Amino acid sequence: MASYLQIADDEKGYNLDLFCVPRHYEKDLDKVIIPHGLIMDRTERLARDIVRDMGAHHIVALCVLKGGYKFFADLLDYIKTLNQNNDKSVPLTVDFIRVKSYCNDKSTNNVKVIGGDDLSSLSGKDIVETGRTMQTLLSLLSESRPKMVKVVSLLVKRTPRSSGYRPDYIGFEVPDAFLVGYALDYNEYFRDLSHICILNDEAKEKYRV
Ligand code: IMP
Ligand code: MG
Repeated sequence: MASYLQIADDEKGYNLDLFCVPRHYEKDLDKVIIPHGLIMDRTERLARDIVRDMGAHHIVALCVLKGGYKFFADLLDYIKTLNQNNDKSVPLTVDFIRVKSYCNDKSTNNVKVIGGDDLSSLSGKDIVETGRTMQTLLSLLSESRPKMVKVVSLLVKRTPRSSGYRPDYIGFEVPDAFLVGYALDYNEYFRDLSHICILNDEAKEKYRV
C-alpha cells in the first residue's frame, strides 16, 4: 500500500493572511490547506520513491491535463535532478492527455479523453475523488498493452463516493472538501494559485456555470 501524508478531517489549515495569495482570490478562499512548500517537499520524496522502484526502466510520463500540469512538471523536475546527480538514472519521455468530467464541484459521470499518442508507464494526476476518471483512463491505456502502468496522484480524497481505486503513489490523503489551487480548478478558476486551498460557499456561487 502506498504511504501518504494524511490531512485530517478537522485540519484547521492556515490563515490566508499568512501566505501570498492573488488579490483576485482573497475573498473566495476559506483557508490554505496545503502550502506550496509542503507540496514541493512531498513531491521531492515521491520522485525519490519512483526512481528507486523503476530501476532502469524507460519511463513514458503521461500528464493528465489540465489539473495535473503543475504536479507533473514539479515531479519530473525532481526526477531530472535525481537523474543528473546519481549513478543510477531512469530515461524519460513525456506525453500529455486531457480529461474532463467536472462541472461546478460535481462529476458529470461522463469522462472525456482528448489527445496522447504514446503508451504510458507513469501517469501524473492531480486528484482522485471517486476514482472514475483514473479507471476510465487505465482501461483506455491497457488497449495499447504497455509493459507496466503506475499512477502517481498528488491527492486522494477520503470520500464515501470512492470506488475503492487507489493510485500506486499518493502525495496526500485529503478530507472530503472541494480543493483548488496548484492547477486544481473550479470551472477553470484558481489554477493560478500556488497553495492548495478550500473554496468558500460564496465563491462556489460566484463562479458557478
Ligand atoms: P474522480 O473521477 O471522481 O476520481 O475525479 C477526479 C477528477 O475530478 C480530477 O481529475 C479533478 O479534475 C476533479 N476533482 C475531483 N475533486 C476535485 C477537487 O476537490 N478540486 C478540483 N477538482 C476536483
Ligand atoms: Mg477540473
